[in-house]
Amino acid sequence: MPEICITNMHDKIIVATSPKSLLESILQSHTDWLHSCGGKGRCTTCKAIIIEGEKNLTPQTAAEKKYQALNQLADNERLACQCAVRGNIKIAVPDENKMPHIDYSV
Ligand code: FES
Repeated sequence: MPEICITNMHDKIIVATSPKSLLESILQSHTDWLHSCGGKGRCTTCKAIIIEGEKNLTPQTAAEKKYQALNQLADNERLACQCAVRGNIKIAVPDENKMPHIDYSV
């Protein structure tokens, strides 16, 4: 199964266990990750910066295109609830979505 490396969580490696979404794989690994709308594509709190492996993610959804047009999702960011992992990727948590109780490495 593909691996997800979260670079600013001390290069934490998790396995992409969910065929459905990056968010589901992250949560299944018991890693805290914001997802205020519950994974419905209605917020941007689950966004991830894609460091490597963009081609290993499923294509952008309508929700992601909408937030990109509104300048709330950068070209190198994806909504974790909207994309699924098909190969190894490296991601990072954006500063604005970091949680206070987690010790981030960058
Ligand atoms: S959890 Fe709200 S858009 Fe992903």
